[in-house]
Amino acid sequence: MRQNDHFTVLSLELHLFFARIMKEHSLFLVAAFTPANAALAKQAEHFMREFEQLLFRATVLGDGVISREALAAGEIFTPFTARAERHTECFTGIPINGDITARQVRLRWRSCSGTNPRLRGQVQALNRTALELLNGLIALKKQILCEVLNGQIFTMNYPLLLEHIIREAKLYREYVCRLEQEGDLDCCSMAELEQFWNQIMMEHALFIRGLLDPAEEELIKTAHGFAEDFCCLLERSRCVHDQTLTRETREKVCALRDFKAAGTRGIEEARIRSVILPLLADHVLREANHYLRLLS
Ligand SMILES: [Fe+2]
Ligand SMILES: [Fe+2]
Repeated sequence: MRQNDHFTVLSLELHLFFARIMKEHSLFLVAAFTPANAALAKQAEHFMREFEQLLFRATVLGDGVISREALAAGEIFTPFTARAERHTECFTGIPINGDITARQVRLRWRSCSGTNPRLRGQVQALNRTALELLNGLIALKKQILCEVLNGQIFTMNYPLLLEHIIREAKLYREYVCRLEQEGDLDCCSMAELEQFWNQIMMEHALFIRGLLDPAEEELIKTAHGFAEDFCCLLERSRCVHDQTLTRETREKVCALRDFKAAGTRGIEEARIRSVILPLLADHVLREANHYLRLLS
């Protein structure tokens, strides 16, 4: 693939995954505030709308351009996403633009080589918008975390979840910067990648464990087991990194992905007792699917 095409395809795939992640982080922030913090909720909702716009733009530009692998990975949307959005809109009262998901279900992968020459400029504009929005959203998330840790405000989001979504936003920003400066993302090593995402997977297991109803003993035990397994993998990857570790990691992420998929279905069908929004369940499932694509 020509350098030019590589840059546009990688940028669009990045936004299709991460802009949705950012709009959902913003929604989780809004949904977890009490009426006392209406002003912060309003700021978070602003970012939700802006990232929604960015995602819509990436969806339009990415049609017939992105790779089959990115489209098939289950990281842009899953079979649960549309329903999870409808339920979450109903449970939170926060409007969610379901047209984007409906459009994404019809996305086509790249069928021929070469992209429209105007696309590069449009993608560069998208990257600049993403960077501006990310600076703003990261600052807001940091402010919320700081005020929570200082006992100034209350939110239903765990402080660790706030730290977690700050790290994900910073990774997105770093990737957009690398694409803008180097036109590629090749410089990310597998060791770096596994350290980042193994920590994310460990924390997902901890969040699931902590948001399940105390009566869901079996599911809590399973989530706890995943957290311990990823903690082990994380410690090992900090000492030595080899192919055996990558293979074991892939197997563990597959198992966690299956657990999350079953959980998302169970939450959507109201068979699992929890305080997990359906869209949060689908969100962590998409992140596991994204990591699996990076591992393959
Ligand atoms: Fe996330
Ligand atoms: Fe996450």
